[in-house]
Amino acid sequence: MSVPSTPDAAAKGFHIVTFGCQMNVHDSRWLEQALTSRGFVPAPVETARVVVVNTCSVREKPERKVLSTLGRIRQATGGNPDVLVAVAGCVAQQLGETFFDLEGQVRLVIGSDGMAGAPQAIEALLEQPTKRLALLDFSSRYLEREIPATSGQADPVALVNIMQGCDNFCAYCIVPFTRGRQKSRPTSAVLDECRRLLDAGAREITLLGQNVNAFGKDAQADGVSFAELLRKVGALPGLARLRYVTPHPRDMGPEDVAAFAEIPALCPRLHLPLQSGADAVLARMGRGYDRAAYLGLVESLRTVRPDIAVSADIIVGFPGETEGDFQDTLDVMRKCAFATSFSFCYSDRPGTRASGFADKIPLETSRRRLMELQSLQEELGGAWLEGRVGETVDLLIEGRSPRQTPGLDSWQGRDPYGVPVHVSLAPDADHTGEMPVVRIVRAGRHSLIAEPA
Ligand code: SAH
Ligand code: SF4
Ligand code: F3S
Repeated sequence: MSVPSTPDAAAKGFHIVTFGCQMNVHDSRWLEQALTSRGFVPAPVETARVVVVNTCSVREKPERKVLSTLGRIRQATGGNPDVLVAVAGCVAQQLGETFFDLEGQVRLVIGSDGMAGAPQAIEALLEQPTKRLALLDFSSRYLEREIPATSGQADPVALVNIMQGCDNFCAYCIVPFTRGRQKSRPTSAVLDECRRLLDAGAREITLLGQNVNAFGKDAQADGVSFAELLRKVGALPGLARLRYVTPHPRDMGPEDVAAFAEIPALCPRLHLPLQSGADAVLARMGRGYDRAAYLGLVESLRTVRPDIAVSADIIVGFPGETEGDFQDTLDVMRKCAFATSFSFCYSDRPGTRASGFADKIPLETSRRRLMELQSLQEELGGAWLEGRVGETVDLLIEGRSPRQTPGLDSWQGRDPYGVPVHVSLAPDADHTGEMPVVRIVRAGRHSLIAEPA
């Protein structure tokens, strides 16, 4: 990381620490660009004038993580009162102005819908060193954000928000409280942003939201369904690949399934949260589908797109989960042969229905189940990757590989299934954004090694 060398650069150095999901990653990237276009420069925390912590509260003692990060920032900055520390994201929305009491260096709290106004708030607070500000109001509409005056070149892989918030109130989940009600973004704004990114060199677009296939089903909807949105984005000139995350199995209609056969750019990969494979647990979670419906959905996806790679989120140790329930989850995993999964021990979140449920599962039981589940996933994922050796696929090169072999120039990209692939390409050239066709020669634990085909 470069250290600002001039006093002016030091005065406008910023540093962002990000926890959580892709929506947070995306928010942080946008804030970074918005600050850069205002003349700020990225800086190490020790010399930054503005430090932002973008937080996540979905699991496990998030407040503690945020406070220890703030403690480290205080140490690194020597507690300098000229340094503006801001807290953003889900914990910011949850704890709000309490942050001012918890850590004196914090002068700005940026809630979920406050992000759009964060760059202006940062500038204003630098001018007014005694002021504090909390941007905690929820808006009833999707708030458009300014388009940062960037250098003109986009990364080959771009993220585009299509909604904010979630209305599902799954029994365990804090997201509806921290991100507010679901608000679809107008289709025209989504398409404009996609066109702009494609013009600036993006080749792949991932549409983002907490419940993407409920796009168009809220009060802010403009009459365009999720499947129609996919068709519109999928038809944009210059787009090579389209993905989306995260859909809800209950909202996955026949049109969304058919899209995998109809839209050439739509990648054969779907992250489809399962949460549990047991009907009783799914019902208590309030997920709105049962085991048979999930299995049927995966089967119909494989009918239209036999090679589709399916991955999932899974929670173990939900209140009342029996050993039999857990075995049902493992059984669904085997039947679906998930390519990967993200799995978690259930964690009580304040204000959620499940936090009031009886029959909490002891942590040691949850941990044992989690380890068993993860070792099954290693087997399933490993077998799938091994089975792909010899295949020919296209890659989208994202940058130089961290693993370099002497004498070779190794690059890293992803295949259409979202797997990281390493390949050696011609030396002394920047291959970022290229889409070479490669042959897979070896499988690693979570990645593949390929040669140009
Ligand atoms: N629809 C969202 C879900 C966000 S939370 C999305 O994926 O964009 C991501 C995952 O965290 C959930 O799918 C769930 O598996 C897990 N999770 C959420 N709340 C949890 C809790 N209280 N304990 C453990 N895991 C949880
Ligand atoms: Fe974490 Fe959820 Fe907030 Fe993302 S939306 S930062 S996963 S709590
Ligand atoms: Fe959470 Fe369920 Fe919404 S997991 S984000 S309440 S779809």
